[in-house]
Amino acid sequence: MTSLELRNVSKSIREPNGAIRSLFSGLDLVVGDTDPSVALLGRSGSGKSTLLRMLAGLDLDYDGSYSSAGRPLVRTSAVMARHRLETMGIVTQGCDLLHDRSVLANLVLGATDRSGARTRAAECLEFVGLPGIQRKRPGALSGGEAQRVAIARALMKRPSVVLADEPTGALDEETETQVLDLFERLQDEGATFVIATHSERVAARCARRFRIVDQRLAEV
Ligand SMILES: Nc1ncnc2c1ncn2[C@@H]1O[C@H](COP(=O)(O)OP(=O)(O)OP(=O)(O)O)[C@@H](O)[C@H]1O
Ligand SMILES: [Mg+2]
Repeated sequence: MTSLELRNVSKSIREPNGAIRSLFSGLDLVVGDTDPSVALLGRSGSGKSTLLRMLAGLDLDYDGSYSSAGRPLVRTSAVMARHRLETMGIVTQGCDLLHDRSVLANLVLGATDRSGARTRAAECLEFVGLPGIQRKRPGALSGGEAQRVAIARALMKRPSVVLADEPTGALDEETETQVLDLFERLQDEGATFVIATHSERVAARCARRFRIVDQRLAEV
């Protein structure tokens, strides 16, 4: 299990009208040492997606420290990009699939090892319950199927950390349960999950739950 640790994080954002607003102040987040999965809860706009982007190293604009597996990460885009590519699978809010490419091409883009990518894509699609759909275009999939393809893409590189932003937002209850079962299987294999969600059902399946309240995380 890979531990991720954000300490004493403060971050401000610029509102559309130009005003500066403090989003996080003295926030700590520790995940993974003993807990395979953490749910991030909070009102819309409270900063869940922003926190995931910080963990992914896609948002570097904050004060505080970030370590992975006990090692401090120097916050440059090069170090963070390497960290992300080596360890992380990311399921974004809204999938971000390329609609002019096949499902297979979308999955290959998520691979670090291009040579075995076709075989791995078949495995990942099988894993999310969509075997044989490599040649389809994302536009021809239902919302739930597209969500599962986005999850398959995140699994291509066998990530030790999965960051998932509303991963079941487009799914019915039964499919949500299937996805959460998949996530649990990956946790049993050693992956660490951080999941931003509005769903109480998703949160209930995580080892720990934190809510963003007053610019910090409170365990709930
Ligand atoms: N690139 C950006 N520049 C400036 N402000 C931003 C940027 N991205 C997000 N914000 C603002 O930061 C705040 C937190 O946004 P964020 O997307 O992290 O919230 P969230 O908790 O994920 O919300 P939701 O539940 O709706 O997904 C919001 O007020 C949003 O408008
Ligand atoms: Mg969000």
